[in-house]
Parts: sequence; C-alpha cells; structure tokens
Amino acid sequence: MPITDALLDSFRNARHVVVFTGAGVSAESGIPTFRDALTGLWERFDPAELATPDAFRRDPALVWGWYEWRRMKVLQAQPNPAHLAIAALAERVPKLTLVTQNVDDLHERAGSRDVIHLHGSLHAPRCFACARPHTLTETPEEPAEGRRLEPPRCQHCNGLVRPGVVWFGEMLPEAALQAAFDAAGACDLLLSIGTSGVVQPAASIPRVALQAGAVVVHVNPQPAGHDGRREFSLTGAAGGVLPDLLRMLGGRHGIIDGSFRP
Ligand code: OAD
Repeated sequence: MPITDALLDSFRNARHVVVFTGAGVSAESGIPTFRDALTGLWERFDPAELATPDAFRRDPALVWGWYEWRRMKVLQAQPNPAHLAIAALAERVPKLTLVTQNVDDLHERAGSRDVIHLHGSLHAPRCFACARPHTLTETPEEPAEGRRLEPPRCQHCNGLVRPGVVWFGEMLPEAALQAAFDAAGACDLLLSIGTSGVVQPAASIPRVALQAGAVVVHVNPQPAGHDGRREFSLTGAAGGVLPDLLRMLGGRHGIIDGSFRP
C-alpha cells in the first residue's frame, strides 16, 4: 500500500514507536540476508555446520573463519539510508525503541543509541569456556569466504574464543528479550523492517504489539498479506521506503545525496 495520510497520522500521534529490524535493513549496505533466494546466507551455507554450539565444538576454525569473514564485510560496509532514516525518526517521536535481530553495528554507526540486539553481535566475542569478553583487533586477518581460521585464545583461561552471536539452540540474552517484549507491549506503533519473521522468539514481537493495540507497519520488498485493520505493509526496499516516510512526515531533517542532514 502507499504511505497514506492515516498512516502518517499514526506516526505523528505515536508517543512510543518500536522499530524492529532484520537482515533486510542491512541488505542495501551489501550485507547478505539469510533467506533471500540465491543471495541468502542459508541458501549457500548450512546453519547446522556454522551456527550451533556443536558446530563450533566440531570445527572451531571453520566456524570462526566464517564469522570473521562476515565481520570483515560489516567493517567494510556503511550504514545505508534506511539505517539513517531510523536514527532520524528517533528525533521526531517522543520515544523510540530500536530492537534488532542483526549482529552488525550499522544502526549504531548511523547514530542510533541504546540498540537492543536480540541475537548478539559480531563485535563482542567471548570465551567459549569461561564466557569472559574478548577484545578483537579492528583489522582482522582477511579470511576468504569459507576459509578456516583458528579462533584466538582467551587471555584468562586459554579457552577458545567464540563469536558473540546467538546460535541455534541457544537462549537469547534475557534482559534484551525482556526489554524488547516490554517495549512491544507498551508502544503505539511498531515498524517491522526487513525480516522474514520466521525465527522465534523474535518473530513474535510484531504480534505482541498488535495484540496490545498498536499499529504495525511492515517494510519489505516481498508483499505481505495482512488482514487486520491496524496492520499495514509498505512494499519496497527499506532504503527507499523509509526516507520517503521521513520526507512525508516533514520536519527538520532533509535528505541530501542519500544521507540525512540536520
Ligand atoms: P531473513 O534473511 O530471514 O529475512 C530477510 C528479509 O529481508 C526478507 O523478508 C527479505 O524479503 C527482506 N529484504 C531483503 N532486502 C530488503 C531490503 N532492501 N529492504 C527491506 N527488506 C529487505 O533475515 P531475518 O528475518 O533477519 O539469526 O532472520 C532472522 C534470523 O535468522 C537472523 O537474526 C539470524 C537468522 O538465522 C541468528 O543468526 C540467530
């Protein structure tokens, strides 16, 4: 559907907006999603071999090399107009809570603060044995896609260092999950951007908001059918739809050459 006046009014009247993002918000920064046909990571790699504690026990160098390759891609990437629009939206509404399933730091680099990371971060590795955080160098070794790389050792216990992401079969960080569900239950409007909505428990967050009476707006190039009177779909790439939305909302931020200027 197009961005209607009624939808713009929902944004203007909202006291608390939750923005819930998935891999699609970083797609236009060149970071692959998981489930897009042909380009999705899980189309090309087997998650059972790369994204579980058992996979790491079996072949730590394979898993570490793959995550370092992804971390490198993120370090080389820049926030795109969608990340920038979300950061600008936070200046326009009384309260905005940003919840992401993404393990990159592009929201933070776009200027968003207090980002809730439900699935951890590529940039916060920790010891697999003692769980203490490990500091990584900013310029990692250059692992090619799929190349093995021995993980570093913990400075405290000499255990293997693991990526700081949530793997399949692991619990999500409790405080982050609680904060996300609390915000979804208390907001007036939830904007769900670039997620296939299949990985639980994160995928329930838009439904929690809807059931609590909020307006829910999905932004995705894949058209989604929603029948509820309070649930809407804006079909298109986040880097196009969100700057349009900002511009139509009006206010003190404008877009110049694809980036936001105060
Ligand atoms: P998916 O790869 O499952 O979904 C990406 C979504 O983004 C799809 O619905 C695409 O249509 C959409 N998309 C693609 N390009 C877009 C664009 N330019 N603008 C907006 N949307 C776009 O990624 P997630 O839903 O984030 O978990 O996946 C959820 C979790 O599954 C991830 O956090 C990860 C994965 O396994 C862990 O690693 C624990």
